[in-house]
Amino acid sequence: MYPRIIINKEKFRHNLRYLLDTCHDKGLSMMAVSKVFCADLELMNIIIEENVDYISDSRIENLIGIASVIPKVLLRLPSIGDAKRIVIHADISLNSEISVIKELNKYAQELDRIHGVILMIDLGDLREGIYDENEVIDTVRKMLSMSNIKLKGIGTNLTCYGGIIPSTEILQKLVDYKELIEKEFEIKLEIISGGNSSNIEILLEDKIPSGINNIRIGEAIVLGRETAYGNYLDNTYNDVFTLEAEIIEIKEKPSYPIGDIGMDAFGKVPKIVDKGNMLRAILAIGKQDVYHEELIPYDVVNLIGSSSDHIIVDVGDAHNIYEIGDTMKFKLTYASILSLMTSKYVTKYYE
Ligand SMILES: Cc1ncc(COP(=O)(O)O)c(C=O)c1O
Repeated sequence: MYPRIIINKEKFRHNLRYLLDTCHDKGLSMMAVSKVFCADLELMNIIIEENVDYISDSRIENLIGIASVIPKVLLRLPSIGDAKRIVIHADISLNSEISVIKELNKYAQELDRIHGVILMIDLGDLREGIYDENEVIDTVRKMLSMSNIKLKGIGTNLTCYGGIIPSTEILQKLVDYKELIEKEFEIKLEIISGGNSSNIEILLEDKIPSGINNIRIGEAIVLGRETAYGNYLDNTYNDVFTLEAEIIEIKEKPSYPIGDIGMDAFGKVPKIVDKGNMLRAILAIGKQDVYHEELIPYDVVNLIGSSSDHIIVDVGDAHNIYEIGDTMKFKLTYASILSLMTSKYVTKYYE
């Protein structure tokens, strides 16, 4: 059944093991982030078999499906209305709002559980986290008075909105916060979580300041790539996931539409260059599953456009001679893995 996403489980396991060993060698624990592949159960089994330190996902719906004794961490700040099911299905959540933490405490009391919290601090990337130092101290004080909340630690997230690259100096600010909190409240924080796959470069260079003892890794597992500079990592695979889509039309046609040009299927006015006649194939997959700009063809073909259910491909220079019913394969990016794994129209095939 096409389209299908081919998932190489051993390559996935290899990347995961390599990153886990690297973190452990450098004295850090690792949260394996499963949201890019929607916590696919076959891959979750590998994550569980490899005994990662923490399972983590941004969607509570994904954590609900995972049965394991490994601690489960909710990465996206909880929605206040979801507090109850977060307490039920996650051991720890990342938080920055005291009103939400209060609600988590309320349900943790009701369910007779202790819910762990990693307090997020914004070091300048300007997505989630408390930015103001007084607010950090005030929030910690309030949390410590809550009966069923355990302040597990602090964390930060970089290279997501603002594109800020984690440096030793920036991460030292998180360590300074750890020391401030530990001194002020005479406590020990268990987890100091320095960030995501953008931390790998300074991890490999041994430039992560001592005090940071955890990172949360998603993209590097699936694509063998760090995300501060986009460099591929030695000893990892970048082709764990491959898309295979089927050809449903092949015809020679003009490259330039005939008639007055208005809007395309997505309300945009197309800008098309006239290249004369062209051998064009149509693939049975479209924007509902993936944006064609995020697909990297193995053959010498050019993806020239797409609508909801179709991708149009210039196959004039292709190495293969294609016929109806043949398939075309593509290497994937983070965005394309995310959307293809989310689409219910794409079959999963494991090799
Ligand atoms: C808070 C948080 N931490 C870590 C990650 C993992 O990021 P990456 O896939 O770049 O490793 C994400 C995104 O999935 C996230 O939202």
